[in-house]
Amino acid sequence: MKQDILKTLVSEEELREKVTELGRQISHDYEGKSLLLVSVLKGSVVFMADLMRAITIPARIDFMSVSSYGSGTKSRGVVKIVKDLDIPLEGYDLLIVEDILDSGNTLSYLKEILSSRGPKSIRICTLLDKPERRTADIAADYVGFAVPDEFVVGYGLDYDEKYRNLPFIGVLKPEVYEK
Ligand code: IMP
Ligand code: MG
Repeated sequence: MKQDILKTLVSEEELREKVTELGRQISHDYEGKSLLLVSVLKGSVVFMADLMRAITIPARIDFMSVSSYGSGTKSRGVVKIVKDLDIPLEGYDLLIVEDILDSGNTLSYLKEILSSRGPKSIRICTLLDKPERRTADIAADYVGFAVPDEFVVGYGLDYDEKYRNLPFIGVLKPEVYEK
């Protein structure tokens, strides 16, 4: 698997340090609130698993799965809910946990859907941010790392459902796409 990686973008140690720091910040900001972490499957599971253990205040977790569909000619993507949340959102301070904020279409749509369910507050925590690629008017409240416009894998992120189990974030060799 590692032979398919061109270079490491974020090492295991850098990930560990950043997740610890995010956990500390979130624990501070949500002290006394009703924190509900919502992980967007599947890309954010590794980040979610580490982040929740870096949070030192009481927190609940839930998962949802979405898929983008509709034509690329639309200015804003439409997202279909494949697996919905189990927990009703009223009264919760919601923190959406994502792997990467790219065009922003997925998250802007998701944020709109979840906002309509009446949570007390709603914020976004993304491990990676590709600001150059943004088309939707959305920003994350917590960002791990800003990354250049390169396709990255590992630590939950996939190419063709592979490389999610790589413990660091890397850039794939071009020949892997060309196969
Ligand atoms: P957005 O709606 O364009 O922001 O799409 C974000 C989603 O696209 C992420 O949750 C990822 O699943 C996927 N994605 C975007 N960039 C990458 C990448 O570099 N590597 C792996 N997945 C990516
Ligand atoms: Mg994703």
